[in-house]
Amino acid sequence: TIVVEADQPGAKVSPDLHGIFFEEISHGGEGGLYAELIQNRGFEESRVPEGCTLDSGFIIPPQTPHYGAGRVVDWKMPFEPKTDYPAWSLQAQGAEATMALDLTHPLHKETPRSLRVEIARIGEAGKVAVINEGFWGIKVEEGATYELTLYNRTRNYKGNITARLVGRDGKILSEKVFEKINALNWTKFTTTLSAKASDEKATFQLSFSATGTVWLEFVSLFPTKTFKNRKNGLRPDLAQYLADLKPAFVRWPGGCFVEGISTQSAPNWRRSLGPVEQRSGTYSPWGYWSSDGLGYHEFLQFCEDIDAKAMYVFNCGIACEMRSGVYVDDKDVGPILTDVLNAIEYAIGPKESTWGSLRARNGHPEPFPLHYVEVGNEQVGEPYGKRFNIFYEAINAKYPELEIVAAMGIAHLSKPTIASIRKMDLADEHAYKAAGWAMAYPDWYDQYERKDWKLYVGEYACNGGVGSGNMTAALNDATFILGLERNSDLITMSSYAPLLENINDTDWPVNLIRFDQARSFARISYYAIQMLNENKASFNLTTKVDAPVDNDTPSFRGNIGLSTWDTQAEYKDIEVIKDGKTIYKGAPGMDQVWNFEGGQWSARDNVLAQTQDGAWPLATLKDQSFDRYILKVKAKKTGGTNAF
Ligand code: AHR
Repeated sequence: TIVVEADQPGAKVSPDLHGIFFEEISHGGEGGLYAELIQNRGFEESRVPEGCTLDSGFIIPPQTPHYGAGRVVDWKMPFEPKTDYPAWSLQAQGAEATMALDLTHPLHKETPRSLRVEIARIGEAGKVAVINEGFWGIKVEEGATYELTLYNRTRNYKGNITARLVGRDGKILSEKVFEKINALNWTKFTTTLSAKASDEKATFQLSFSATGTVWLEFVSLFPTKTFKNRKNGLRPDLAQYLADLKPAFVRWPGGCFVEGISTQSAPNWRRSLGPVEQRSGTYSPWGYWSSDGLGYHEFLQFCEDIDAKAMYVFNCGIACEMRSGVYVDDKDVGPILTDVLNAIEYAIGPKESTWGSLRARNGHPEPFPLHYVEVGNEQVGEPYGKRFNIFYEAINAKYPELEIVAAMGIAHLSKPTIASIRKMDLADEHAYKAAGWAMAYPDWYDQYERKDWKLYVGEYACNGGVGSGNMTAALNDATFILGLERNSDLITMSSYAPLLENINDTDWPVNLIRFDQARSFARISYYAIQMLNENKASFNLTTKVDAPVDNDTPSFRGNIGLSTWDTQAEYKDIEVIKDGKTIYKGAPGMDQVWNFEGGQWSARDNVLAQTQDGAWPLATLKDQSFDRYILKVKAKKTGGTNAF
């Protein structure tokens, strides 16, 4: 029997319940949403990210006493340039030629690298060319046109340069000749390549006809057709998938991406503005460079183009804990705060203001639809609470219309941590769950404390036991969303994560939309979210269900243990106390649980408390039961943070 109290409407379901979260992960942007076809177009991608060294790991800078100045973090930076010029190669047949990186004549100080090609000898039928493989191939379509831009300079070179798109069988799909190249200084060349045949996995080539030296910089190729036909725009099929979800808002650009592997190399909105050839690029903690072509302005423009509110996530002086964990001291965050306020002014300040006028000069006098900002990503603990207050108070004083999101979910907040936050508009809590979890915990959020905050489930997905995503995952995601709707007095926003995956370089096991250079495919979960967004309940009704409990139905059973995200912390003598009684005493059990990087699972969290036989002993969850466990943990710790 189901009794619905139709005359007693409960909480309204938020019109903003479904948004999207875009992160530069798995080449979601570079080699994905961003339509650029040349990989490593500026030759900057063998650069060691700022704040890092290749030989000695990461050294905690002196201005961050919080985590032990001078300490060398025992962490291997996921930065192993395989060549000096990733994605480029040299072809020399019947000729003698070499290529090398050159830093002597920067096109711009932010982009100092160029490619030097020296042609010592070229026979009658000889051939010298540099080849770019694109992002695991370039899709070329007969009849389509492509906009080529390149900079070059030469010494003792009196030949032509021929630009070509070449099919896998060697067939020339398109060709243009730049004649009589002879420029001592950097010179910009542009042309349109028209394709007379198709190939899904073509390459781009620049070939040379004479001896001498040629330097190349910023070699860029865009399909003429982009989403909404914007210059420096987006790949139409992927952008359309996102638009078709009708997201109320877009959170971007991360995620761990925002945290960076060091605070210096973390993304910065200013570096991503202005002429594209002058943008230095950002190194992602996911192990690759992006060109910043899809920068702050472009992303705000995309939000406007799909009629979504923008949520900008910024680095608040805390680098990814799994990488360097650098935590800029509170007293030193002034410049970071000013930079964030400038970013906000750029997005929504009057067109007469310093940064608003730059937006106007960049072609957008009206404010962009920035409605939310988020202070960092995935943080816990009192130091973060204090950091959040600094940003909340300054941003709120200047821009009271913005909603300010704490990157620390309510479930993670212990009482002292909650107390350390004076005021937040929304808390962003993430929920990656295994198959079956959503069904076992349909009323998970019903138990959350209601206070003067709203909850934003900024990253959720059923991503365990579902391969790379299947119908089981979609059913779990749909069930999870119904739980969000039912708790709409608390939960007003949500977004699935991650959104995009180039299948040639996967950083995360389950992603919503998968693609390669030629194809794209939305998983069933995409359609579940779309359906539930288009058919959202307006409000809740109190419903009582009287149904026999099927005890044979398997539901979640398991044990709770204790682990930490912080691989830099070392723990000893762990004691866990429940209701005044010690329920666990010992050394850390096996170390590490999981991580998915570079296409495979590896160790991540340190497990602190578990028994010899591998069971996690702190509490046992029984079928169909919900209990609250309050545990006290004592331990000796050296290094790191508290992130259980
Ligand atoms: O969505 C993938 C990652 O999951 C995000 O970068 C991070 O916020 C979370 O840990």
